[in-house]
Amino acid sequence: MEKKLVDTFNRPHNYLRISLTDNCNFRCFYCMPEEDYDFTPASRLMQAHEIEAIAKIFVEQGVDKIRLTGGEPLVRKDAADIIMSLSKLPVNLTITTNGSRIHDYLDVLKEAGIRSLNISLDTLDRDKFLLVTRRDQFKQVYDNIQLLLQEGFHVKVNMVVMKGMNENEINDFVAWTKNDPVHVRFIEFMPFSGNRWTSNKVVTWQEILTEVGARYDILPLAGDPHDTAKKYIVPGHAGTFAVISTMSANFCGNCNRIRLTADGKIKNCLFSQQETNLLQPLRNGENILPLIHQNILAKAKELGGQFTTDFEKIHAETIHNRSMITIGG
Ligand code: 5AD
Ligand code: SF4
Repeated sequence: MEKKLVDTFNRPHNYLRISLTDNCNFRCFYCMPEEDYDFTPASRLMQAHEIEAIAKIFVEQGVDKIRLTGGEPLVRKDAADIIMSLSKLPVNLTITTNGSRIHDYLDVLKEAGIRSLNISLDTLDRDKFLLVTRRDQFKQVYDNIQLLLQEGFHVKVNMVVMKGMNENEINDFVAWTKNDPVHVRFIEFMPFSGNRWTSNKVVTWQEILTEVGARYDILPLAGDPHDTAKKYIVPGHAGTFAVISTMSANFCGNCNRIRLTADGKIKNCLFSQQETNLLQPLRNGENILPLIHQNILAKAKELGGQFTTDFEKIHAETIHNRSMITIGG
């Protein structure tokens, strides 16, 4: 397919991540800002037909993969309608969810042809789950992951590794891959507005591999050039694990992603300061295509131009960004 969304570093963008809402039924401290947070009122969110209209424009420009994110995408009342409408586009449709509502959506996911899901789960300990999310729903999430596996879905589990919080569970997650075909992804903790990030809470790719290597043999697996995760398998295990090394070794050189926030703004990077409002111009009946092109042409070489690869030197308060809950990961 012709690649029409190319930035000044010659990167084609074929992967759109759409946040359906900044609302969530969990309260993970690393994702939500510390201060009281008001969720965006419905009138300022993209409506289902607006999401479909914007998505179609991106698809015409070569986007062939769409991921739905949040907040928690499945708390949105019309999530099923949105999923079904986007499933009719010629794209690989996926979703990132906290897993708490999967049991209500199994039929919708199947009908929409979704085969792969990313579930956020930072601990296998019920008490710690409550501490991280402020909700006592470990069992619900864990059972839903098992349900998805039984139903034959490809399940990736996102575990944000934070020193002093859950780094002692790295090998418990790897042990989980022994009998279950689950794909664990260890994510280096990233700085966002108000998320209490400090560089000494980051557990790096190297540290993670050292920890796993102390207990298991590890084989690297081949990946796709656009993969954000470095993949590994413990020989004989049913599942795999991977590391997303945003902080210690970014993968911006092959970035093919663009993000659409729930209030209808595009962000060309997780860490970009600049946003381009598409929703208001769309509501005004304007052509939004030139805005999309301008936004992509303004994309920085790496990490939104906000910091370098030397993450030990980052001071979180100097980074200007939204909080994760309003970006959607
Ligand atoms: N650092 C790394 N990953 C994060 N996520 C949310 N906040 C952060 C952070 N500060 C993860 C979530 C989810 C995915 C969308 O991003 O756990 O799995
Ligand atoms: Fe892409 Fe930005 Fe992420 Fe780098 S930091 S991979 S440029 S979205």
